Amino acid sequence: MVSRVIPVDTFDLVIFGGTGDLARRKILPALFRRFVAGQMGPGSRVIGAARADLDAEGYRQFTREAIEEFGNGKAYDPKELDAFLEALDFVTIDALGEDGWADLAKLLDVGKITAFYFSVAPRLFGELAERLHRFGMATPDSRIVIEKPFGRDLASARALNESLAQHFDESQLYRIDHYLGKETVQNLMAVRFGNMLFEPLWNAQYVDHIQITVAETVGVGGRGDYYDRSGAMRDMMQNHLMQLLCLIAMEPPAKFDPDAVRDEKLKVIRALDPVEPGDIVRGQYSETEELPGYRAHVGHPDSRTESFVAMKLKISNWRWAGTPFYLRTGKRLRARTSEIAVVFKETPHSIFGPEAGRHRNILTIRLQPNEGMDLGVTIKEPGPGGMRLVDVPLDMTFADALGPDAEDIPDAYERLIMDVIRGNQTLFMRGDEVEAAWAWTDPIIEDWEARRDEPQPYDTGSSGPDDSLALMFRDGRRWREIRA
Ligand code: BG6
Repeated sequence: MVSRVIPVDTFDLVIFGGTGDLARRKILPALFRRFVAGQMGPGSRVIGAARADLDAEGYRQFTREAIEEFGNGKAYDPKELDAFLEALDFVTIDALGEDGWADLAKLLDVGKITAFYFSVAPRLFGELAERLHRFGMATPDSRIVIEKPFGRDLASARALNESLAQHFDESQLYRIDHYLGKETVQNLMAVRFGNMLFEPLWNAQYVDHIQITVAETVGVGGRGDYYDRSGAMRDMMQNHLMQLLCLIAMEPPAKFDPDAVRDEKLKVIRALDPVEPGDIVRGQYSETEELPGYRAHVGHPDSRTESFVAMKLKISNWRWAGTPFYLRTGKRLRARTSEIAVVFKETPHSIFGPEAGRHRNILTIRLQPNEGMDLGVTIKEPGPGGMRLVDVPLDMTFADALGPDAEDIPDAYERLIMDVIRGNQTLFMRGDEVEAAWAWTDPIIEDWEARRDEPQPYDTGSSGPDDSLALMFRDGRRWREIRA
């Protein structure tokens, strides 16, 4: 493995919502791991900002517990944790009032890289931006990190973009879609644009169809309120699956540069055909003997919100006209698995006769678990008895192929937070991209609401509603099995 020198910057990171769930589960543990990796330059600080009545010592204790509970399970040196905690501070702040803002401004060092992480409800984004400006913290060098959901439709996303744009330039905004921080998602670009092998075949002439599955075994958990107002369409499809689709379908950008990549992704979203109602299936998980069904889970007996959605999409451009994309995502399914499968066409003619059967190459990119890639190739079955063909996988599990480096794949948040510090926006969504994704999503949701569309029930541990299987069967295709 080639060792590389990664630049180390000194920075201040302020986490609004510093005592919230995301800070506890993801942001603070991610920062600790980057600290251990030597990527927090001397003098860097992490400043929690929230309503809680805490001091620096209290925040250190809060962070220690978060890391003990949500670290990646690997042993760490307690001295390193103590050293990391030294870099922490806390300010009690009123996001909607005046208290605490002057204290925060006083804490920050002029001239240092400063990132403000908005890990709060979207209705506070504009309020925080305005106060950062008013209290002199919105400098041309400051960076704003924004969590999803970025709006719930085009109008609200536009309003958020406008409120942020009043005080910050687009080059300072880092809209997180944590799927873009996943190692295998970035690998998609490496595979497509770092190899000669795939790109010539990556089009409607050779690709029969593409499937994207993001399946979870968990239900909506403790987030029933939020989820019931969102559903799988807003929670997963509009952002995570849409981003995967963009990376799979986009044209090669001229360089791996933030705007070049994001321009190409935007073109994909804009080239999507409106989806026919018959090309979408919505589902809701039913109860089991042990577990409540969706409606009981969210405490809303008439809820029409979907916990599963599958759809067939068409991209109207030269590369993809005629190649369908099938996307599905849902909760309480058979296994936790996320993968993209590029299913190539059959050979135009079989020289081996009808008994050899027809075969297709399938390139599967596994996002989780067992991150890796698999290319199904057709070979001769060993032994006498004529030319019998069989499909075998050329399997590359990254952990096997790359050794310890791959076992230590950083969490998406580690990668994304360090990209903010380095000022690299490639893996973050630009404002026009988010708006385009909502512009595509809105009519679909409006149609469901106008028709009071009822999602179909599906069993926990299944592959979703039967109609989602029919969505492909009727085209003479089938989904790949959902399995761990
Ligand atoms: C989040 C969604 O953005 O992604 C959750 O709000 C979902 O509902 C989660 O469970 C899935 O992320 P991952 O990284 O576990 O696939």
